[in-house]
Amino acid sequence: KPLVFSGVQPTGNLHLGNYLGAIRKFVSLQNEHDCIYCVVDMHSITAQLVHEDLASQTRSITAAYLACGIDPTKHIVFNQSRVMQHAELAWIFNCVARIGWMNRMTQFKDKAGKDRENASLGLLAYPSLMAADILLYRATHVPVGDDQKQHIELTRDIAIKFNNDFSHRIADLGIGVELMMGEEKVNGFFPLTEPMIEGPATRVMSLRDGSKKMSKSDPSDLSRINLTDDADTISKKIRKARTDPEALPSELAGLKDRPEADNLIGIYAALSDQTREAVITEYGGQQFSVFKPALADLAVEKLAPIASEMRRIQADTAYVDAVLKDGGERARTIAEGTMKQVRQIIGFLQD
Ligand code: TYM
Repeated sequence: KPLVFSGVQPTGNLHLGNYLGAIRKFVSLQNEHDCIYCVVDMHSITAQLVHEDLASQTRSITAAYLACGIDPTKHIVFNQSRVMQHAELAWIFNCVARIGWMNRMTQFKDKAGKDRENASLGLLAYPSLMAADILLYRATHVPVGDDQKQHIELTRDIAIKFNNDFSHRIADLGIGVELMMGEEKVNGFFPLTEPMIEGPATRVMSLRDGSKKMSKSDPSDLSRINLTDDADTISKKIRKARTDPEALPSELAGLKDRPEADNLIGIYAALSDQTREAVITEYGGQQFSVFKPALADLAVEKLAPIASEMRRIQADTAYVDAVLKDGGERARTIAEGTMKQVRQIIGFLQD
């Protein structure tokens, strides 16, 4: 049975990229699937251990999930550190995965920078914890932005190696399920998770530089639209977004080598639920002086209500905490079911 899992780190400002690349998809998937949405607070300490606003940031991401429309009574919303099985399975995956796999991760290379020897060991092992998040629930589908693709591929590699290393134990215990590996049917314990990276905004770029991803950590606030920005701020940031002086092309091919224009078209398409082709058909030949105000109106219409709903929910700390506690309890039940079997497969003695 398909199960959706995804997570967001409680660091910095949630922005339009997080919304279009991930959270909006979380919302649309909940009508047809069982979903688990996590605030990955343990991941957020890999880059910065001392994190004075961790609790408020965790509540803020939770409020964003709820403000965007995730229903915590039908699905599970919780913070990762509440369910200690994430750390337990991550440890086991640290022993399954190879150091070389971790060293090749582009996110590690970017975040560690030049001084890799001084990065935390947690930053290197980050993808192991991410694989544990997903596989603890044996999730089959993970909606994410394009930047997480490599981590999901690594999650599959870990599942494949675990299934393979323990194939006899899994068969002896009779707890495997049939999995398709390409054309071949194999018996395994962990599923091979599929990333869901679709639509016109899987990689939203900075509004100041079309070659850089929109990111929580960019020092320029003008580079991103935060989910908490009010209508005036959203309009101002779009007005100031960097562009080239040409009119919009009348075909998609004309966006090649025009990364800023390409980005704004993708954002418009995603916010209006249209294809990029449809947007080019409507605005091809127009100047940015026409397109930018239209984009600003659209963004305000879609995003401003989320900001005010987020503020309303966030003010009710008791409610947010109750959602996380209840979600944590439900997540823990599933996670412990998986871990009982994993401990058995490995040969750890348990009660
Ligand atoms: P994080 O917190 O950096 O980002 C959360 C989600 O937002 C997406 N995203 C973007 N999408 C489009 N354009 C952008 N500019 C952009 N920036 C961010 C990310 O792809 C992500 O989907 N490692 C993850 C968190 C995580 C996770 C997991 C995700 C931990 N465990 C298990 C899925 C499943 C991360 O750092 O996301």
